Amino acid sequence: MPCSVEFINQSPAQAGDGEVRTMLTCLADACSQISHALRKPEHGTNRGEPSEDGRSMDIFADAVLVHALRLCRFVRGIVSEEHDHPVMAHDISGPSAYDVAIDPLDGTSTLGSNSAVGTIFAMYQAGDMISASHPPQYKQMVAAGYVIYGPATLLVYRAGGGVHSLIWDDAAQSFVRSASAITIPPRGNIYSVNEGQSGSWSDAMKALVGLYKEIDGSRGTPYNTRYSGCLVADFHRILGRGGIFIYPKTQAYPNGRLRYLYEAAPLSYICEGASGLATDGAHAIRSKTVSGIHDKTALFIGSSDLVNEATSLLRG
Ligand code: F6P
Ligand code: MN
Repeated sequence: MPCSVEFINQSPAQAGDGEVRTMLTCLADACSQISHALRKPEHGTNRGEPSEDGRSMDIFADAVLVHALRLCRFVRGIVSEEHDHPVMAHDISGPSAYDVAIDPLDGTSTLGSNSAVGTIFAMYQAGDMISASHPPQYKQMVAAGYVIYGPATLLVYRAGGGVHSLIWDDAAQSFVRSASAITIPPRGNIYSVNEGQSGSWSDAMKALVGLYKEIDGSRGTPYNTRYSGCLVADFHRILGRGGIFIYPKTQAYPNGRLRYLYEAAPLSYICEGASGLATDGAHAIRSKTVSGIHDKTALFIGSSDLVNEATSLLRG
């Protein structure tokens, strides 16, 4: 049964125009199905291996999202982490055609531990063409969002204006309003980074994290580390409380690990809509050009003061 998404349907000023709202509703409906599936007992210990229906949860999530987007008449191409090439939905062009990029199930390495996972999406106004080597660019983005499947299922999105959230109401079988015009504090006391990789960080990166551990004169305490291994969960904590999430360049990932089109760019769009910032340690995520749909980037995202300070230190 399709879910209803009252807030998106009733608030055109906050949820973009009719086309964007239609696609948001379509994605919200698909994510409610993923949320439901994740809570089934047989999936509670799913570590990404085939479950009883023969599919791992990330393949299942991809199938649900791609199916929903293919039914949405404004969608031209779908870029998914699970597909080498864009999946073509409709042979359309012009101002009512969009390409949608998705990370169907973010944080899958944590599946089986009953911790939060997520879905990330970004809608791009369709350009001349889309292919593996002709990705949409940041300036074409019209909306982005993520769903966090945690103790509650929450949809956080931005469609041009501010950042809003909806929470899944099981009794109503619907997403209902949770928070409007969300803003991220300009500072915070959390840094979120995989410190186990610090041996392969640059000296500047080591110095930056060293500063977070010092007792700051004005604050009187060092920062706290919080890192779950799920970008959506780690970013969501920082959006609410302030702080910085970092995935830097490492030896294993010389260009960073996170995907630009369906991880860094949508979260940057949301973060900036909430008065935060996102860079790759040198340049704004919004200013980067991508040449492949699965391009990777380093990511420094969160509270504006912290991202500015980190980026200045990294630039040298
Ligand atoms: O999607 C990539 C991802 O799983 C993110 O959700 C997460 O932030 C990151 O990778 C974790 O990477 P690592 O295990 O290297 O810290
Ligand atoms: Mn991911």
